[in-house]
Amino acid sequence: MFAVRQAAPLLARTNARITPIALKACAASISAAAPTHRIDGGITNLACGNDCKIRTLSNHSIRTMATLSASYDHILAEKRMPETSAKGGGVGLITLHRPKALNALCDALFEDLIHAVNAFEEDEDVGCVVITGSPKAFAAGADISEMSTQEFANVYKKNMFTQWADITKASKPIIAAVNGFALGGGCELAMMCDIILAGSNAQFGQPEINLGVIPGAGGTQRLIRAVGKSKAMEMVLTGNRINAEEAFAAGLVAKVIDSDHLVEEAIKMGFTIAEKSGMAVRMAKEAVNVAEETSLAEGLRFERRMFHALFATKDQKEGMSAFLEKRKPEFTNE
Ligand code: CAA
Repeated sequence: MFAVRQAAPLLARTNARITPIALKACAASISAAAPTHRIDGGITNLACGNDCKIRTLSNHSIRTMATLSASYDHILAEKRMPETSAKGGGVGLITLHRPKALNALCDALFEDLIHAVNAFEEDEDVGCVVITGSPKAFAAGADISEMSTQEFANVYKKNMFTQWADITKASKPIIAAVNGFALGGGCELAMMCDIILAGSNAQFGQPEINLGVIPGAGGTQRLIRAVGKSKAMEMVLTGNRINAEEAFAAGLVAKVIDSDHLVEEAIKMGFTIAEKSGMAVRMAKEAVNVAEETSLAEGLRFERRMFHALFATKDQKEGMSAFLEKRKPEFTNE
């Protein structure tokens, strides 16, 4: 904490040209070196100079780690560590936080989100990321007030929403924990993640047709791959929403979980993933994602090459030795 207290204001003072993004990046990497705090419950916000805060959270089973968060305007970013923390065993928790607009995805929110995902990507404590929203809304779509007066030339020239796909460039797995509305861009954001867990009150939909437009961040492409053509067409053409059970039956989500326990369960799943070999997890994610974009023959070749490549890792030696020696593997992500 001393380092964070000292460094963020110092950075701001000593380099007049430093951008807010660069300052966030520096502060986030400093926070990785911050000491661990243990508290018995609740949330503590510790002030840290004028520019930042350190937020710590805990519950009974989750050790807490100080993580810089308040430099973000529209999200909260926290690091959760399990009791027995192996290298890379933590989960980066990102909570979309624009409650008055049901987490509508304005440009500034998405910039925060991409920044936080990239910071967790660089953070060696973190093996998996969870993105969630509020109990009422994961995200109610792209920000309609930001879009309503835009003209073709402008949205075309800036290639509106192309930057959203940066989320899919992360090599670490991302779990979307969806409570409430996941509509339009909200549903598209969930589909950019690797696993969707739905709270029992979740509602998914692509209502853009009601606004005189169509999905613009993958809704027509990723939805069909998840639920098949007929269901995707129904959702995109009618704008009708589906609930959590329907989303599960259609194959859009991996599990339905009681809404009150959704985030906790998502973090637990994140810990389960994060304790595996980081090398194998990354390659597994890459191989599964390749399946959406290539032929079966190419996909099988890619999978086999990834499988072969893992024999160059220490984690493969450790994983197989541990099995034979009847002990738990200690992966080092190398
Ligand atoms: N953009 C901007 N503001 C939004 C928003 C959005 N997508 N969704 C909700 N809000 C705002 C509302 O304007 C309202 O603000 P005020 O209190 O200032 O009026 C506030 O959030 C609360 O919303 P409601 O009063 O409408 O809440 P509700 O519970 O009655 O209804 C809802 C909830 C069904 C989600 C409804 O808000 C709704 O239909 N939202 C729009 C959903 C939508 O059309 N999403 C697609 C957007 S386009 C898109 O995403 C394009 C793309 O492909 C990327």
